Amino acid sequence: MGKSDDGYCGFWIADLGFIKKGNEVAPELLIFIVRNDTRVSKMAGIMIRWLVNRDGRFEMTYQDEHSQKELRADFDNWAQTYDQEVGIPTDDFPFAGYDRALETVWQKVEADPGMSVLDLGIGTGNLAKLFMESGCQVLGVDFSAEMLVKTREKFPKLELVQADLTLDEWPTALNRRFDRIVSNYTFHEFPLETKLHILTLLATDHLHADGRIVIGDVMFPTLPALKKAKEDFSDVWDDEIYWLTDETRALFEPRGWALAYFPVSFCAGVYVFTPPAFDTV
Ligand SMILES: C[S@@+](CC[C@H](N)C(=O)[O-])C[C@H]1O[C@@H](n2cnc3c(N)ncnc32)[C@H](O)[C@@H]1O
Repeated sequence: MGKSDDGYCGFWIADLGFIKKGNEVAPELLIFIVRNDTRVSKMAGIMIRWLVNRDGRFEMTYQDEHSQKELRADFDNWAQTYDQEVGIPTDDFPFAGYDRALETVWQKVEADPGMSVLDLGIGTGNLAKLFMESGCQVLGVDFSAEMLVKTREKFPKLELVQADLTLDEWPTALNRRFDRIVSNYTFHEFPLETKLHILTLLATDHLHADGRIVIGDVMFPTLPALKKAKEDFSDVWDDEIYWLTDETRALFEPRGWALAYFPVSFCAGVYVFTPPAFDTV
């Protein structure tokens, strides 16, 4: 746990407000505790995966470069069948509401021709397509080369960049500001603290001052709603880090973010994030 090949490494731990009293931090780990700091640890290729599990217990696992490679390979394989799978209408977890989520993201963006839109985890371009049809200038980002190949086949003129959103060093193609930042069915890969970290970076360095971030994904209003879906769909359930609206509000709103939530099915919905006024240098 948290051990690099050449010894123990340190972690930055964000916002210990989450950790309930009485939880013990593994004593053998060198831990740097930083309150109100949303940096995600990235030392010796290791990234904290969870700070506190959803029952409130402290738990630390890590995601290393190897597991990230495996995840990327899974998406590379999925690229071949992805459009077929999401093209089948369903009321089942996890894709119940997928089309409505795409449509709702598009509506909440209020796209105008010429608007610049950054699509995070573009996959095969199903969300980007709606913005291109509205005359927007879209830049798509994904870490899966095969997903990008599929998107390029479908939309040869679309600007695409390969990048892992969980790494702090993004390619220079991203060094600009966008009118809107969007994403669909991607952020459930990231722990809540990583979600906040990525959105804070985006809002600070990549979004115009009056911009907003619109995210469709698997999401539930509360943990009991997630647990019910997990029971009802136990045969197909996959444990990912699905958004919970109450815990998302609890993390974001005290930091000045406004969040509007639009459920589109029992397991999917759309968030419109309006960031606080960050110092934009
Ligand atoms: C379920 S697909 C969704 C694709 C598309 N947005 C849609 O709505 O159909 C998730 C996408 O996010 C990408 N992705 C996952 N983790 C990522 C990461 N850390 N950095 C960049 N892309 C990532 C995957 O490669 C995949 O293309």
